[in-house]
Amino acid sequence: MEAIVLVGGQGTRLRPLTIGTPKPMLPAAGVPFLTHQLARARAAGVDHVVLATSYRAEVFAAHFGDGSSLGLRLDYVTEREALGTGGGIRNVADRLESAPGDPVLILNGDILSGHDIVAQVAAHRAARAAVTLHLVRVADARAFGSVPTDAEGRVTAFVEKSPEPVSDQVNAGCYVFSREVIDAIPAGRVVSVERETFPELLQSGRLIVGHVDDAYWLDVGNPAAYIKASADLVRGVIASPAVDLPGEAWLADGTEVVADAQVCGGASIGPGALVQAGARVDGSIVMTGAGIGADSHIVRSVVGRNAQIGAGCVLVDAVVGDGARIGAGNELAAGARIWPGITVPDVAIRFSSDI
Ligand code: GDD
Ligand code: MG
Repeated sequence: MEAIVLVGGQGTRLRPLTIGTPKPMLPAAGVPFLTHQLARARAAGVDHVVLATSYRAEVFAAHFGDGSSLGLRLDYVTEREALGTGGGIRNVADRLESAPGDPVLILNGDILSGHDIVAQVAAHRAARAAVTLHLVRVADARAFGSVPTDAEGRVTAFVEKSPEPVSDQVNAGCYVFSREVIDAIPAGRVVSVERETFPELLQSGRLIVGHVDDAYWLDVGNPAAYIKASADLVRGVIASPAVDLPGEAWLADGTEVVADAQVCGGASIGPGALVQAGARVDGSIVMTGAGIGADSHIVRSVVGRNAQIGAGCVLVDAVVGDGARIGAGNELAAGARIWPGITVPDVAIRFSSDI
């Protein structure tokens, strides 16, 4: 089976981490996030993947090459200007080898999901659907495509990001398209599958099936979700064929964690990073070449490539961009984001809960 992965978004909500790195290439449990999706697709029987790229396209091929290390054949197609989700799918059509009627798997490139892809494809075939959507239930559907279904599981509407969602079932970002439906998307212009293709298919009476599933599911669109995804992968809360052994922490070869430092809660420490004495890194992502000073506490945070955190700092739910230097004794909390290359002097930022 073939798959298309949409990886052209700008990852705006993950800035500054996505200034230099596209969202699917951010490390999660030690490998680019996309690796987990590709490995899951492979395990579900996919052998050929086309990556629909736009933003920072060159980074993908430089890492994954021809895909053979993952047992896949990988193709890359780059949009000169972003074509949206539907435009991106249509733009790769000439790379597909599937015949009309064959199922093609399509994935948003920022979803961590434990759902059964094989069962979704089987449901698609059994219903002879035009499209089959993976759906999950959420408490607040406003940030998603809300997708009601009838008693037979047929999708009755698709309403993208509405203040008044029409269902608590949402589009989970994993589709099976019948090949000819891809070819019918208009070429050469911006198209949104969510706002245009799905509503139009429904209007013209085509069958869209909803495959509801309550397995692990996370849209890795903001720092909190990204940090959780990585920690869950490290600890095996969500299994990935790309993670060897689940545990409390993932340490790259060549990292140095001084004996009485503590690395826990699904934290990951990238190649060449250094965690000094008395420091605690809990549920956080410390990237390549970064340094954590003595006695610092890093909780549910990201420390970017080559960033340096001084001694005695506290970071909770914070993001420090690549190459930034945080002086000793600083406290960063509650969504703080430090831009790449910035230097924060010693004891310049404190976080107080009692004002
Ligand atoms: N090639 C290409 N070109 N890819 C794109 C483009 C583009 O112009 N725009 C976005 N993408 C990719 C992103 O990289 C991402 O992998 C995927 O399409 C979805 O874009 P997001 O920006 O992450 O959308 P979202 O999270 O706000 O909403 C989407 O996902 C939700 C589930 O997580 C929608 O599909 C919602 O309906 C859905 O509920
Ligand atoms: Mg998303």
